[in-house]
Amino acid sequence: MSELASTREELAKLLEPARRDGATVGLVPTMGALHEGHASLMRVARERVGGGPVVVSIFVNPLQFGAGEDLDRYPRTLEADLEVCEREGVDVVFAPSVDEVYPGGDPQVTVAPGPLAEVLEGKTRPGHFGGVLTVVAKLFGLVKPDVAVFGEKDYQQLALIRRMSADLCLGVDVVGAPTQREPDGLALSSRNRYLSPEQREEATTLSRALYAAQREAEHGVEAALQAARAELRRSKGVDLDYLVVTDPALAALPTDPAPGAEARILIAARVGTTRLIDNMSLTIGASR
Ligand code: PAF
Repeated sequence: MSELASTREELAKLLEPARRDGATVGLVPTMGALHEGHASLMRVARERVGGGPVVVSIFVNPLQFGAGEDLDRYPRTLEADLEVCEREGVDVVFAPSVDEVYPGGDPQVTVAPGPLAEVLEGKTRPGHFGGVLTVVAKLFGLVKPDVAVFGEKDYQQLALIRRMSADLCLGVDVVGAPTQREPDGLALSSRNRYLSPEQREEATTLSRALYAAQREAEHGVEAALQAARAELRRSKGVDLDYLVVTDPALAALPTDPAPGAEARILIAARVGTTRLIDNMSLTIGASR
């Protein structure tokens, strides 16, 4: 049965036996509104920790929402979330209040995410990744996990958390789990629930564009981008923010990548008022 902790003390008490036994502790940080994508992260965590405890945190972190973003309308579905955790055999659910995480209001000391946070998502969401890294650092401090699992769907977030754990010597093994998709390719996201049926249809353009790029990548980066753009042109309801190919760590690709080089293609677009992101791996062939 999943045990629920709302305070730091309750959390520490529930994790006491695991610490005493030297068990491997796994953490899946979430903001709730759990869906199959989150459930898959819990399964990856379970694989990694074996018999050790899997902890899922559920916390809608105000620090990572900018003015005009959807903090208030972000779905809060604790009862249903607990059922998902129960079903996946999660040991501890940590669902603290804002005051529990930020006693005394906004923290004075925060994590500076560096230049990687200023591109892609960071460009349109200033302050977002500082808020993400600050809360993740706090969760690492509270849970003291050996392993923490994040979805590849938020690829830039995953890259930054990996970087933080390495650069600040936090000692947490940050694991990326593959994006879960609907049968028509749409990446699972808590934000999909904001889409009307027509917008839901339009939203599949993003994954179609990425799959098209994957198919053409053997002909080089430009061919991959052109294939993706051709898919995007077919759709009227998708307002593109960015479509880029980078190296897997989000650094710029060399101008002439070696055949077989691994890369990442990332896309962000608005469908109606909902901002969607997606990404996939690419294997670049000989450039022509
Ligand atoms: O990906 C999310 O749900 C959030 O950004 C995270 C990592 C739980 C931090 O609040």
